[in-house]
Amino acid sequence: MKKFLLPIFFIFFTCLIPGQVKTGGEALGTKSYNDFEKPTYCGSACHKDFFEQWQQTMMSQAYTHHWDEIEYFKLAIPHAEKDPFVAEVKAGCNGCHSPLAFLAGDIPPQKPEMKSRANESVSCAVCHSITGFSGDTPYNFNFISEPGKTKYSGRMPELLSPAHEIKKLDIFKKSEFCGVCHNEKNPYGIWVKSTHLEWKEGPYAKDGVQCQTCHMPPAETKTSNLGKKYADARQHLFHGAHDPGKVKGTIEIRIHPDIREAEPGETVNLTAILFNQKTGHKFPTGSVEDRILWLHVEATDSKGKVYHLPVNKKGFEGEEYTISGDVLAYKDMGIALDNKDFQGVQRDGIPVGDRIFRMPYLDPQGIMTIQQWNTKSLGVDYRFAPRDTKVETYTFRLPNNIPSGTVTVKALLNYQKLVKPVADFLGVPEEESEIIPVNEHTTTFTILD
Ligand code: HEC
Ligand code: HEC
Ligand code: HEC
Ligand code: HEC
Repeated sequence: MKKFLLPIFFIFFTCLIPGQVKTGGEALGTKSYNDFEKPTYCGSACHKDFFEQWQQTMMSQAYTHHWDEIEYFKLAIPHAEKDPFVAEVKAGCNGCHSPLAFLAGDIPPQKPEMKSRANESVSCAVCHSITGFSGDTPYNFNFISEPGKTKYSGRMPELLSPAHEIKKLDIFKKSEFCGVCHNEKNPYGIWVKSTHLEWKEGPYAKDGVQCQTCHMPPAETKTSNLGKKYADARQHLFHGAHDPGKVKGTIEIRIHPDIREAEPGETVNLTAILFNQKTGHKFPTGSVEDRILWLHVEATDSKGKVYHLPVNKKGFEGEEYTISGDVLAYKDMGIALDNKDFQGVQRDGIPVGDRIFRMPYLDPQGIMTIQQWNTKSLGVDYRFAPRDTKVETYTFRLPNNIPSGTVTVKALLNYQKLVKPVADFLGVPEEESEIIPVNEHTTTFTILD
């Protein structure tokens, strides 16, 4: 008898927990803006340093950043209003990009230029009200938000704050804390963002290296103007793809020829080896639908003539998406833009034949899309896993008239946050499609007389 009663009591009891906090989509409109302090309040007298750091992060601009504004207002809202299957994203985008607006039920929030409180984006009060998440997997803003007099954090400070109480929670030291917004499943049930899941199955999770280790490095500073110095105060840097310095050197490259001396008309085989030494998740991660990473290889002969070397095919399924081509994609932008005849724009916008390390997102028609909410399947995953090494080969048939002397071969790995043809088409500011050099290496061989 007891055996049966226990689980029944348990179910009964958990249903009755007073004020059980709603999470994810169900939390829409359950709070008000006034439940949360403004970042300027946290940053005015006490946390000046962290405030200035946070202001330079993308999370302080998650709602106001121009590309986010364009994608939300120009594509996501009109699409959600036309296609009932994705209607939920009209509110849902804000669950991560403007959690206050979402929790306050202010949908759609006013545009950034109106300077409403939606602009606070992922603020101090958003993160420091999080006490956990519902279910087993952090994703789709399923964090439990308990704003109020108590602020939650990873440490119980020695000096207490006059402004609030503090409670130490272990989740602040764990990657799951970040996963609530850095994993996303779309209306089609596709994982369109899985930075935390990629980390979890990789080597860094096994070594106990958390997101915070690389994005909030410990350093000797005060954590508050009134507080004391800690040797390991967690810096609020959150540097990512918008910091060229963070991206630089992520992948190390070497390229070498199979022979060092060759005659005109002969063939030289080149091998490039690329090692991911820096990211705790895949690279690219996060907004994978927007990002491209590509390897450009070219040879220069002794007279300065340049030969672009296209990558050799490996023959895996879906490889066509990983070699730059002159093809159209992103046709589904036509839905939001009310243009039935829209044929899309150029897919890659980089030299044809270059290897692209990416994972294509495919719309319900099987055409590549940058609209993560309209993604029905994912193509081949040809990205770098953490500590992954990839090998690419190039076959250079030397022209019969190539001059004697040294040939220099350069392998250049570039990153772009948003494919340029899409950025140009939507009028997204230049910096989103700037080319960020990740790494390069050169090698030489000699053409004999
Ligand atoms: C409440 C949701 C939320 C939480 C919690 C959260 N993030 Fe974010 N994060 C975002 C959003 C939204 C963006 C995108 C900002 C933008 O629009 O570019 C972002 C951007 C970032 C970026 C910048 C990426 C770039 O493109 O430069 C980094 C790095 C980052 N987050 C790290 C973290 C880490 C580490 C944690 C955990 C300590 C964390 N985030 C927790 C929502 C969140
Ligand atoms: C071992 C160090 C390391 C760990 C651990 C790590 N990251 Fe990163 N992260 C990086 C580096 C380096 C970059 C820059 C290259 C890039 O953009 O991926 C980066 C980039 C990012 C970006 C920007 C990606 C893009 O290109 O838009 C986000 C978002 C991010 N990290 C979030 C996280 C989250 C969330 C976790 C934990 C689940 C985490 N990181 C764990 C090193 C790390
Ligand atoms: C994206 C979520 C996020 C945002 C936004 C954020 N924090 Fe934090 N903060 C954290 C996490 C996670 C920790 C704990 C890291 C650890 O202990 O490993 C932390 C730690 C702290 C600490 C204690 C530092 C220590 O070393 O004990 C203070 C103080 C703090 N944050 C203040 C702020 C202020 C002020 C802001 C706004 C200007 C802010 N935070 C914005 C996630 C965030
Ligand atoms: C589950 C949380 C979550 C939801 C829901 C979400 N995003 Fe994001 N979004 C993020 C995170 C985290 C990043 C940063 C990833 C990275 O840096 O690679 C991001 C990045 C972006 C970026 C790229 C920002 C940049 O600077 O490169 C855009 C644009 C964007 N989101 C728009 C949207 C739109 C529109 C929706 C709704 C259809 C949406 N997001 C829904 C978490 C979310």
